[in-house]
Amino acid sequence: MSKPFFYCPDCRGDLSLQDNAYFCLRCSSRWPVKQGIPVFIKNELPYWAEIPKAEAIRFNILAQDLGWREAMRKSLPAGLQEFISDKDRVGWKYFIESDISGKVLDVGSGWGALAFSFAKNCEAVYALEPVWERVNFIRIRAEQDREGNLFPVCADALNLPFPDNYFDLVIFNGVLEWLGCSDLRLKPDIAQEKGLKEAQRVLRPGGSLYIGIENKLSFFYFLGVKDPHSRLRFATLMPKKIANLYSKLLKKKEYRTYIYSMPGYRELLSKSGFKSVSFFLPAPGYIKFKHIVALDKDRINDIDYFFRLINFRIIFSPALFRIFFVLVKMLFSPFLRNIFKLFVPDYLIIAKK
Ligand SMILES: C[S@@+](CC[C@H](N)C(=O)[O-])C[C@H]1O[C@@H](n2cnc3c(N)ncnc32)[C@H](O)[C@@H]1O
Ligand SMILES: [Zn+2]
Repeated sequence: MSKPFFYCPDCRGDLSLQDNAYFCLRCSSRWPVKQGIPVFIKNELPYWAEIPKAEAIRFNILAQDLGWREAMRKSLPAGLQEFISDKDRVGWKYFIESDISGKVLDVGSGWGALAFSFAKNCEAVYALEPVWERVNFIRIRAEQDREGNLFPVCADALNLPFPDNYFDLVIFNGVLEWLGCSDLRLKPDIAQEKGLKEAQRVLRPGGSLYIGIENKLSFFYFLGVKDPHSRLRFATLMPKKIANLYSKLLKKKEYRTYIYSMPGYRELLSKSGFKSVSFFLPAPGYIKFKHIVALDKDRINDIDYFFRLINFRIIFSPALFRIFFVLVKMLFSPFLRNIFKLFVPDYLIIAKK
């Protein structure tokens, strides 16, 4: 069984473990180990989860007493149970061309679904979360499932407690869009770039970064479907300054959950030091998909298939959907096909260092 390995997130110095804390041998920072989980953040980040904080605390007590599966069945809605335990949420791993059997880092691991799917097939998985209740659940789950190579870590994506060139794979599933909310002193895009640069730093040369995220130009947003982060209609399509005013007016808070278009993600990743970037369409969406279509390398051939993947029924009645489908098929050409991929709902992105 491998041992977890950390570096000081403040100065990248070596750490020594003594009396339930890591001490930095270079800058003397002290990082406590709480219930076996190293805590590498000084100020707590805002609580975020699908359930309120008090419920999450009660849920962890229940998970400890009954076992996490039983606790989940007793107290969480069916959709959330699937989100937590579905092993197929890492189906995109077959598109990664580099070796990912070594060390994996799941940033913003949530309930740990993706991290646990990897634990069986690689040397070590680090499940990193800034929210204590979430990382504590991951610890309980790992202990009960006897996953000795899965290490929960309480830390921030913007300041990773790992050395350079360490991981084979870094995962950001539904996480990049939230990084603008972690450090309110930074502009959201700067915080996102900082998080990506950290991912790039800890990846070994040739290692891969995986991102699952929404497309700001999704045709759903043009049709008035709400952005799931800000809960605002049309906000992703507005210039950021206008979206900010609009959010302050309607939601009484800043607009900080930036998402991008395909060229926007390319630019952000290239600024953060990534070399090759590939895009995929998850259908119906990146959180839960049945199909994955490669969007680069001219691999989009079967347009009927492509269209069946997208859940237009969310917005159209069946009759309207059929008319729309026929019209789009008539209009379709290789040129339009390349345009169409700019407006799909979500992307899976694989970037290489
Ligand atoms: C939508 S959830 C996704 C959870 C998980 N990746 C999954 O797909 O099941 C977003 C997660 O990002 C985490 N997060 C937000 N800001 C973060 C930060 N600065 N560093 C690391 N994780 C962060 C949240 O605590 C939350 O668990
Ligand atoms: Zn230090």
